[in-house]
Amino acid sequence: MCGIIGYTGKQEALPLLIAGLKRLEYRGYDSAGVAVIGEGRVAVCKKEGKIAVLEGALNGNFPPGRTGIGHTRWATHGAPTDANAHPHLDCTGRLAVVHNGIIENYLALREQLVAQGHRFVSETDTEVIPHLLEEFYEGDLLSAVKRVIPLLRGSFALAAVAVDEPTRVVAARFDSPLIVGLGEDENFVASDIPAILAATRRTYVLDDGEIADVRPEGVTVYDRNGSSRTKEVFVVNWDAAQAEKAPYPHFMLKEIHEQPQVIRETLRGRIEGTEIAFPGLKLDPGFLKSLRRLYITACGTAYHAGLIGKMLIERLVRIPVEADIASEFRYRDPLLGPGDLLVVVSQSGETADTLAALREAKAKGATVLAITNVVGSSVAREAHEVLYTWAGPEIAVASTKAYVAQVVLFTLLAVYLARLRESAPPELLRELAAGLPGLSETVQAVLAREEEIAALAGARKGWEHTFFIGRGLDWAVACEGALKLKEISYIHAEAYAAGELKHGTLALVTEGVPVIALATQPALWEKMQSNIREVKARGADVLAVTGAKAAEIVAVADEAICLPPVHPLLAPVVAVVPLQLFAYYAAVARGCDVDRPRNLAKSVTVE
Ligand code: F6R
Repeated sequence: MCGIIGYTGKQEALPLLIAGLKRLEYRGYDSAGVAVIGEGRVAVCKKEGKIAVLEGALNGNFPPGRTGIGHTRWATHGAPTDANAHPHLDCTGRLAVVHNGIIENYLALREQLVAQGHRFVSETDTEVIPHLLEEFYEGDLLSAVKRVIPLLRGSFALAAVAVDEPTRVVAARFDSPLIVGLGEDENFVASDIPAILAATRRTYVLDDGEIADVRPEGVTVYDRNGSSRTKEVFVVNWDAAQAEKAPYPHFMLKEIHEQPQVIRETLRGRIEGTEIAFPGLKLDPGFLKSLRRLYITACGTAYHAGLIGKMLIERLVRIPVEADIASEFRYRDPLLGPGDLLVVVSQSGETADTLAALREAKAKGATVLAITNVVGSSVAREAHEVLYTWAGPEIAVASTKAYVAQVVLFTLLAVYLARLRESAPPELLRELAAGLPGLSETVQAVLAREEEIAALAGARKGWEHTFFIGRGLDWAVACEGALKLKEISYIHAEAYAAGELKHGTLALVTEGVPVIALATQPALWEKMQSNIREVKARGADVLAVTGAKAAEIVAVADEAICLPPVHPLLAPVVAVVPLQLFAYYAAVARGCDVDRPRNLAKSVTVE
């Protein structure tokens, strides 16, 4: 979604705002803008396009000023134009606001404000906020914000500045993420940690309903009722380098290459020999033993990790698992209640649909376990229990390392639950536990074949459509492979359960149609061989991603990427890596903006 940055302190605000926006650009990049208070006015510059366009427009002619706000936008209400870009101003031009999220009742508010004589210059929902502030502003921005917020419906985060208070930023969080960065004689607000990491690692993570009064000398946080609160300082343990892409040309490639390390981090402290434990997890073993079924919900890539989780848990724990897309789950009055466990999966921990599903499950009395990457995120705070994927900051819009960490965590969880419930042969569980740490090296071995995969992808850059096929775990990986390819290279890619093709989709397989066949499960090789023959008979060009000794697959495919040896139940962690690299290099060969695919944003905090 959109990214917000705010600064007040001892330095010139503009360079800090621009640097922060660049680090938030993954949240939205269709337009960007800044407002700085200086020389008794608020100077605003905002432009359609990426932050580089904004920088070009600033061109050195902006007044000096030590307080300001900035925004990078992913359009919801109103097209990405200069006028719709943030910050937005009131009629007097003395109050400026940036906002992330949606104001659901903006039409009614706008009508009312127009009737009172306010003039609007954009199509955004945001613009009602500065006009409402204007109605209530009597020289104290904090009290004006406090009066405006109860009038707004929806989920949002905002930051505001006023010309008459040139050393103050007031920010508020209502369902959209916002943090405060704590410096020396300077303080920040931002949508996410990377924006402030170059300046400070000390933060306040705002809770829903909190308002922060940010001044250079200190920050006061107020709760929903307007009372000041003592906040705990959260010290971020990432370093600034983790939020930089160098020496890689894109964050996505950097994050793909971080996966061996991410696997080690996600396993750290959770596996000792072949023993698995989740230190700090307070779910009662009696409750876990008595579960009769389990639910998983998430969106996009995290949902695909959930599909793997479902298959592993059903296989090892022998209870039914429903994996559902969060936007569907929340609206179908799901059949769960006390005694049930819902696992929600979210890299960002802020995805609106996932959060809504979590709340729905809690309201129905179910227990919620979150798998998330962001400490202090909404999902982490609202779930009953949390398992963190220690993947470090994921900046590229296309998720890679977080997915691998989620799949590793699901594997750990499945083995852990199966041990607890004695539902799978102990030697199988030992074998899986023993195999987990080795995944790091196996993934490294696949990464070492980057050039080969880049060449395969480069040779296929002219593809317009492709099908990914697989069975069982391979089908789940195929779903992720297809999503990666389509979201960054814009090649139309669909994943099908291989056995399902002949029930309709095979009609689309004609001479030269490319098919990527996943075949990492020896027990299904024969079946996959038949499916590959089926598409070959219609003229398909088949690239297989298959196991180490899959001679029967290699024999029928046109080309094959053979993975290093790995236990079939651990294969998803390895099999996805060539698909990530394939998508990356196909996108690069097509000249796509890999880290900022069109129409997408990293963290989807609106429905
Ligand atoms: C695709 C991708 C998205 C996210 C989805 C959920 O590469 O990243 O599909 O997986 O938007 O996001 P989180 O995991 O933050 O809830």
